Amino acid sequence: MNRREFLKISGIGAMTLFMSGCGLSALKDDKKNVVPEKGSVSGGKNMKIVVITSSPHAKNESTSIYLADRFTEGAKSAGHEVFTFDAANGDTHPCRGCDKCGMDGPCIFKDDIENILMPKMLEADLIVLTTPLYYFGMSAQLKIIVDRFYSRTGKLHGKKSIMLATAYNSADWTMEALINHYETLVRYMEWKDVGQVMATGCGARSLVEKSEFADMAYKIGTNL
Ligand SMILES: Cc1cc2nc3c(=O)[nH]c(=O)nc-3n(C[C@H](O)[C@H](O)[C@H](O)COP(=O)(O)O)c2cc1C
Repeated sequence: MNRREFLKISGIGAMTLFMSGCGLSALKDDKKNVVPEKGSVSGGKNMKIVVITSSPHAKNESTSIYLADRFTEGAKSAGHEVFTFDAANGDTHPCRGCDKCGMDGPCIFKDDIENILMPKMLEADLIVLTTPLYYFGMSAQLKIIVDRFYSRTGKLHGKKSIMLATAYNSADWTMEALINHYETLVRYMEWKDVGQVMATGCGARSLVEKSEFADMAYKIGTNL
C-alpha cells in the first residue's frame, strides 16, 4: 500500500511508531486487546475452531494471516482442532439479498462459502474473524463472508468468537469502528466474544512479527 495515505491521518505519532516498531506501549492498558485467562473460556478441550482469513497478501507477507497463524499454533498446541478458510482466494460471492434462503439456508450460491465454509461453521464451537483494517472497517473479502451468515443466522447462534486485526495506523481511535462493528455483530449473532487482538502500528510483516500482538494471538490460542 501507499504508506503516505495513512501517515497523513495518523501524523507524527505514527511515523515515530513506524520507525521504532509497533505501538504497543499505547495499548498495554487497552481493554480492547482481550486475552482470556487460561481456562476461562468454557467449551473445554478439543474445541472445533474455524479461522477465517481475508487478506489478499501472500501468506508469508500478510500481517493479519501472521496473527491467525500464531493463534492457530497456540490453539493446536492446546489440543483444539482448527480449520482455516481463505476468504481472499476462494470462490466467494456477495449475498444478493434474494431471500431464497429465508435466513435458514441453503444459499442459492454453490460456492466455497456454501460448500466448504458453512458446514464447518455450523459445527464449530469458535469462529475467528481475521482482517486487515481497510478504511477503518473489515476487508471487503471478510464482509462478503459475514453477509452470507444471513442464510444461517439462527443456526449460527451460540458460538464463541474472536477478532484478529492489523492496521498501519497507530492512533488510539484506529480500531474504534471495527471494534464497534464486531461487537455489534457478536451481539446480533448471539455469540460470545472471547478475545480480541487489535494490532495497530502493524502495517508490515516485520512490525507484526516483532510485536507483542503476535504473542497475544498465540496466548489466546493456548488459553482457550
Ligand atoms: C485498501 C486498503 C485500506 C486500508 N485502510 C487502512 C486504514 O483505514 N487504516 C489503517 O491503519 N491501515 C489501513 N490499511 C493498511 C493495512 O491495514 C495494513 O497494511 C495491514 O497490515 C495489511 O494487512 P495484511 O498484510 O494482512 O493484508 C489499508 C490498506 C489497504 C490496502
